[in-house]
Parts: sequence; structure tokens; C-alpha cells
Amino acid sequence: MRVDRARLEAFVERAFGDVGAAMTASLVVLGDRLGLYRALASNGPSTSAELAALTGTSERHVREWLRAQAAAFYVDYDHASGRYGLSPEQAAVFADDSGTACMLGGFQLAVAAGRAVDRLEDSFRSGAGLGWHEHDRGVSEGTARFFRPAYATHLVGTWIPSLGGVAERLERGARVADVGCGHGVSTMLMARAFPASTFTGFDDHEPSIGAANRAAHAAGLAGRCRFEARGAKDFPLEGWDLVAFLDCLHDMGDPVGALRHARRALADGGTVMVVEPRAGDAVTDNLTPVGRVYYAASALVCTPASLAQEVGAALGAQAGESRLGEVFAAAGFGHVRKAAETRHHMVLEARTT
Ligand SMILES: C[S@@+](CC[C@H](N)C(=O)[O-])C[C@H]1O[C@@H](n2cnc3c(N)ncnc32)[C@H](O)[C@@H]1O
Repeated sequence: MRVDRARLEAFVERAFGDVGAAMTASLVVLGDRLGLYRALASNGPSTSAELAALTGTSERHVREWLRAQAAAFYVDYDHASGRYGLSPEQAAVFADDSGTACMLGGFQLAVAAGRAVDRLEDSFRSGAGLGWHEHDRGVSEGTARFFRPAYATHLVGTWIPSLGGVAERLERGARVADVGCGHGVSTMLMARAFPASTFTGFDDHEPSIGAANRAAHAAGLAGRCRFEARGAKDFPLEGWDLVAFLDCLHDMGDPVGALRHARRALADGGTVMVVEPRAGDAVTDNLTPVGRVYYAASALVCTPASLAQEVGAALGAQAGESRLGEVFAAAGFGHVRKAAETRHHMVLEARTT
């Protein structure tokens, strides 16, 4: 086969752009850790000397960071004044951790997951897994920050109301288990929205449970919102009105066992809500910018995590609705309904009755 010169050049150009993005990712993490974006947002356009003074950092390092940021169009540069600044949109993405456009968690997750590349090389050769606890702590922190914007936008306002009768039940006072809760972002969003209900988050990653309990205390939610280090198949069978799995079923070694346990744990008329990354059933459906992020996260973190657990089902983060439906059916749920869908997520609902 002959190489088409023009197509080769275009493809090299694209790959070169991706090299720039990959290198810039570590610089985004630095800017976040050192408060460079936040200082630019609060101070307005600044020279490298001004930004270094504001953040207690070294001017020469900061000058080069700013130039790299400008080349990535992550900050704006004004040649006449020599100042760098953030547009409102750049500030929303890089300087507002609690905002719904924040992307800092995604960069943190990408950089931290990459630290496991040597151990993943071994796993790829041997077929062994790599658990959440074996990653740099930036993986769980970055994951919590990565999902927060989507949960803050959709969980309480759209996803829960899309489930039959669940919002009403939570308003009256219900018991909710949030399984695979990580740092408890989703658990605390629900706890704030439904003050008559109680919430327990379960995750088998102890550092995440520690972070979640600290956050619940700090937020004044500890009375109604607590977290326990438990696996998806051994949380208490206490009659939960809602058992939620957010972006975690595919990480589990035994998703069928986890859903079977959830089914036994439900109160009469209770609901299981599974939120998973949105995906079509065919690989070709997912060859998109969203699928690119989730397939990459899946290969680096989710699939190795599942393979590290018993059964090792390795659903992958882009399993698709049909495959997930099979998992529900194998767990004994007769009917599953796609209750909602957003650009990045789909919400599946199942009940015992
Ligand atoms: C992608 S993270 C999602 C975390 C959280 N739901 C969020 O959205 O931030 C997957 C989570 O599933 C947890 N997990 C994986 N396997 C588990 C299991 N068998 N039992 C309980 N938690 C599990 C991991 O520790 C991790 O916190």
C-alpha cells in the first residue's frame, strides 16, 4: 500500500497537536496546584512577575508556563502590555473548581493515571489487574473532581426526577445507599437536596471513604450522610429505598453480583439507579471525543480495576445499554428502563416489582 503524502502530513499534524495536549496536561495540574489560574482570575491580566509575586512562585518558571498556556489557548496573551489573562470561559474551565464547566479533575485524572504506565505494561503482558488502591491518589481525587460538574448539573435536577416516584419518596424521607461512591460527591449533592432523607456511601477504597467522611463533616452533613468502607456485595441488607451506582458498576469485578446484592437490599418498591458513561452498543458508535476520553480512562483505570477483583467481568467504561441490560437480567431484574440520557451519561432504572 502506498502512503498518501497529503494524508500522512495531515495525520502527523494531528498527532503533533495531541503531543502538545499531552505535555500541557502536566502544566495544567501545576497551574491548579500552585494557584496560578485562580490568581490570574482574581487579579486580572498579569505579567509573569506579577503572577509569580501573587503566588509565591519563581518568575522564570512562571514565564515559561504562561507562554505554554498561551500557545495552548488556555490563557490569552496581550503583546502590547506583556500581560496574560483569562477570558470568562477560560476562567470557568480552569479557575472555578466548584463550577459546572471545570475541567481540572479530568487533567488531574489523566496525569495521575499515567503514573501507572510501568505497572500497566506488566498487567497488559500478564493479564493481571490493577486496583484503585494501587494508583496514585490523584486518580481518585481527579475522578471525584472530573464527575462533579456533571453530577451538580444533572443528578438532583434531572436524573432523580426521571426515576418513577423516587424524588417524591426522597422528599418524604427515604434511605439511600450510594455504592461505589468514591469521595461522596454524588452522596452529598443528594443529601443537600433531600433533607428528610438519610444517605450512606459505600466504597471499598478506604482513602476515598476517609475523604468523603471529612467532606461531610466540613459541610455539616455528617448527621444524615455517612460513609463506610465496604464492597458492593457486602453493604448491609437494610431495606434501602434507592440504591445508586454512579460511574462505578463497570469498575467492579462482579457487576452481576453487585446488582444481585442491591436487589436483595431494596425496600419494597425500592429502585436501583445505575448511571454509566453514555455509550452505544457498537465500538463504532463510540469513536467520538467523549468515547475517546472514556475508552482511554477505561484502558488505564476501569478495566484493570475490574480485572483485579473476583470474577473480573471487565465490562469497560463504554459497555453500552444492551450489555448493561444483560448484567441487570443476570442479576434477576426483569425490566430495565433508560430513564435519562445526557451528553456524557445514561441513567438506567430497575425495580424489584
Ligand atoms: C470511577 S469511580 C466513581 C466514584 C464515584 N461514584 C464518583 O463518581 O466520583 C469508581 C469507584 O468504584 C469503586 N469500586 C470499584 N469496585 C468496587 C467494589 N467492588 N465495591 C465498592 N466500590 C468499588 C472504586 O473504589 C471507585 O471509587
